[in-house]
Amino acid sequence: MSTDMFSPVTLGDIKLSNRMVMAPMTRNRADEHHAPHDLNVTYYQQRATAGLIITEASQVSPEGVGYPGTPGIYSDEQVAGWQKVTNAVHAEGGHIFIQLWYCGRISHPDLLPDKQIPVAPSAIKPEGEAVTLEGMKAFVTPRALETNEIADIVAQYRHAAKMAKKAGFDGVEVHAANGYLIDQFLRDGSNKRTDEYGGSLENRMRLLNEVLDAVIEVWPSHRVAVRLTPENSFNSMSDSNPLENFSYFITQLNPRKLAYVHVLEGDMMTKSVNIDYRVLRDCYDGLYMANNGYDKARAQTALNNGNCDLVALGVPFLSNPDLVKRYQHDLPLNEVDFATFYGGDEHGYVDYPFAEEVNAESV
Ligand code: PHB
Repeated sequence: MSTDMFSPVTLGDIKLSNRMVMAPMTRNRADEHHAPHDLNVTYYQQRATAGLIITEASQVSPEGVGYPGTPGIYSDEQVAGWQKVTNAVHAEGGHIFIQLWYCGRISHPDLLPDKQIPVAPSAIKPEGEAVTLEGMKAFVTPRALETNEIADIVAQYRHAAKMAKKAGFDGVEVHAANGYLIDQFLRDGSNKRTDEYGGSLENRMRLLNEVLDAVIEVWPSHRVAVRLTPENSFNSMSDSNPLENFSYFITQLNPRKLAYVHVLEGDMMTKSVNIDYRVLRDCYDGLYMANNGYDKARAQTALNNGNCDLVALGVPFLSNPDLVKRYQHDLPLNEVDFATFYGGDEHGYVDYPFAEEVNAESV
């Protein structure tokens, strides 16, 4: 069976015009109140021909922050900024989900209210350094959350889900990946708890399940998605048995009838892949979104083989606002500027040319 990447797909009750999804990408260009502004509106609007945009990860509370300049989705000012983004994307006929984020141990006291120590399932310091306003600083040993503190974190997700609705998003993706708080609970390299949030797979999934329950109080489940990273080592993460453990987690998601499950396959940094993602894909009854270094050829092959229903593309959308058109007509792609990925101004953000501009310059 062949599934054209340019063919429409129905995601819950939303009809996407194609299967190419703009992957969530941190760009660190929100304002000093972590609110989106006009530059961010232009960036997302330019990319609205993606079947679906997933926003950059956006913290659910001031305590959830882990980097400078990342947007939040908890204050009225942030909602007002995001409202302009969603209006602009919708005006172009696009669809946009916001990714809900809580960084946990991948943060630093300099970034947190009252210089508090970052929290985590267990007091295990990640390797490496946090990005602060004063430059890179070594991660600190996080404080293990008390069992009775977890309900408040879940409440922060519920609040953010409500704010996302006010901001006009089409849905939310719960970020349970890449070594941030929920992933720190899922994987056993970072979760050594002995209460009901650690130990068994059921316990390690409890936080994700409670967050999903809270978000689904606000949104219909078909407007809620989850992102997972079974074997990404980014942010000092590891798991003793990614295939078996994530087969369990993904199977458990089935009854929820979510919009989709989004899986970053393999390692984000090295791109190495050590488990069979077809097994994970086959654990899931609904739409499966694949991600990690896909290009046009790999995306089309994966869709044709039934290895996925949607493909999330990061860098290609970052550097080609009109990626759908370029793939459709086999047009050359813009060169990527890695130096302007994180932070800065319009350069490397909203000034990547559209194909017609490239053509106009060359005639
Ligand atoms: C990053 O800022 O490097 C980053 C943020 C969110 C992710 C992955 C990486 O999910």
